[in-house]
Amino acid sequence: MQDIVKEIQQLKKERNAVILAHNYQLPEVQDVADFTGDSLELSRTAASSKAGVVVFCGVYFMAETASVLCPDKVVLIPDASAGCPMANMITAKDLIELKKRNPKAMVVGYVNTTAEVKAEVDICCTSSNAVDVVLKLKDADLLSGAGPLPGTGEIIFIPDKYLADYVSKKTGRRLISWDGYCPTHVKILPEDIIKQIRLHPKAKVMAHPECTPEVIALADAVVSTGKMCRLAKESQGKEFIVATEVGIIHRLKKENPEKKFYPASELAVCPNMKKITLEKVLWSLQDLKEVVKVPDEIRKRAIKAIDKMLDI
Ligand code: 13P
Ligand code: SF4
Repeated sequence: MQDIVKEIQQLKKERNAVILAHNYQLPEVQDVADFTGDSLELSRTAASSKAGVVVFCGVYFMAETASVLCPDKVVLIPDASAGCPMANMITAKDLIELKKRNPKAMVVGYVNTTAEVKAEVDICCTSSNAVDVVLKLKDADLLSGAGPLPGTGEIIFIPDKYLADYVSKKTGRRLISWDGYCPTHVKILPEDIIKQIRLHPKAKVMAHPECTPEVIALADAVVSTGKMCRLAKESQGKEFIVATEVGIIHRLKKENPEKKFYPASELAVCPNMKKITLEKVLWSLQDLKEVVKVPDEIRKRAIKAIDKMLDI
């Protein structure tokens, strides 16, 4: 493994590349990366980086978002089959039909969507800003030509029905949702949390908003993976039950060696995130493959929705 790491580091210099890894990546992939973060943090880091090549260790929609934000860079994904099943639960055609059925509604699209779907949404959101985006929709004149939206305006929220439910409860807004969900987060059951609380009564429960409402109801904090990392560092707490994909435990332990982290369920594994291995990172740099390039026509429309989110 050390030889591969050396080769990766050497090639990275030669190619003027930066390696970005999502918080769910395998430990050795996180360790070789220049930056580890949540989906939005990674895209923004890609955009601000001076590197000409971005090796994106995550799932496909994340690499696409990086391509949308930095069209002049070469964005690579070490395994192009690493998709996000939730993102693939809605197509652009599905969304166009949903919009036809709800012609007055504004569309909020979670970043876990394909670039083609983003091209059809009015504004994007991430797990860390979804509540703020929906709250601000009614006062902000962000949506081109729409003007300020009345508080009663209809909102379509796609594709995650559980994130939609959480946002709806936090904002008091009725949302028209889609039947999408994350197959990894639904594996975390409320009884898993109850069991962990019994075992570790002093621990705080952090849950990702992709979890089911029953799990979210048991959480002390409902946050993105990036915010989980920040919370673990800044909190006075010494023990945490972590209700999200198990890969994040590596980073949490590495950054907080004096604190304890308990995965809510060992079953919460995203198989697509685990498709990116150290070898594939090396091959990606050697062959400059697989290139992720969002076509310009889609990119121009998708970036509007991402920029509107960044404005907020
Ligand atoms: P974060 O943006 O919180 O990292 O979430 C991405 C994701 O895919 C969660 O399953
Ligand atoms: Fe998609 Fe779920 Fe994997 Fe996140 S954990 S990338 S939402 S399948």
